[in-house]
Amino acid sequence: MSNRSRRQFLVTSAAVLGPASMAARPLLADEPPTKASAENHETAEPEISAPEDLMREHGVLNRILLIYEEGLQRIHAGDDVPPDVFHKPAELVRRFVEDYHEKLEEQFIFPAFEKQKKLSDLVSVLRQQHQAGRRLTDDLLRLATPMEFVRLEAKQKVVDVCQAFIRMYRPHEAREDTVLFPALYGVLSDKEVKELGEQFEGREHELFGEGGFQETVGKVVDLEKQLKIFELSRFTPK
Ligand SMILES: [Fe+2]
Ligand SMILES: [Fe+2]
Repeated sequence: MSNRSRRQFLVTSAAVLGPASMAARPLLADEPPTKASAENHETAEPEISAPEDLMREHGVLNRILLIYEEGLQRIHAGDDVPPDVFHKPAELVRRFVEDYHEKLEEQFIFPAFEKQKKLSDLVSVLRQQHQAGRRLTDDLLRLATPMEFVRLEAKQKVVDVCQAFIRMYRPHEAREDTVLFPALYGVLSDKEVKELGEQFEGREHELFGEGGFQETVGKVVDLEKQLKIFELSRFTPK
């Protein structure tokens, strides 16, 4: 059994949320993220493969895209939307998606294909899109601030940037999930894929500590609750 399967750590479980956590809260009030969105339970983390690791990180990105969409919808509805609705998810994108998840892809996944000249066109586009995404996030972090957001022009730019970000990342991550990651087993041996999983785990702990992934999910949950889009049943057609 690997260290990973033996390791015990605290996992935030959304399943145990009590009714109190659903109480109305101010829209993105400036309060620290609650660990609280849930109680902490000690649970064993199962050993997961490198592709599964990357795919669940895509799940985090998808939830962030939904937060951006909610912000856009509220602007379109004429609501008074504070800049934090965009700035806070953009901070998570910078830290978790761009500076962590995409770095793993750029340093470990893409080179495996590049070395064997496999899926070259796809990998080249994916690399370019990471750079394009970083430029969009730069814009969001710069413009979704109280100083800038009062300008109509800046607010419009935030809307355009967010739309472009969502439009690019849905197909980007879907292509990775359905084409690139499944093909990983064709360019690396099972042993090499397994070793990648260990390297990813090491990097995650280095950057985010023991509960890295779950803490990031907790931060996303906090933002969803503040926007009142946490309840999954809200998305079921009536
Ligand atoms: Fe990517
Ligand atoms: Fe990715």
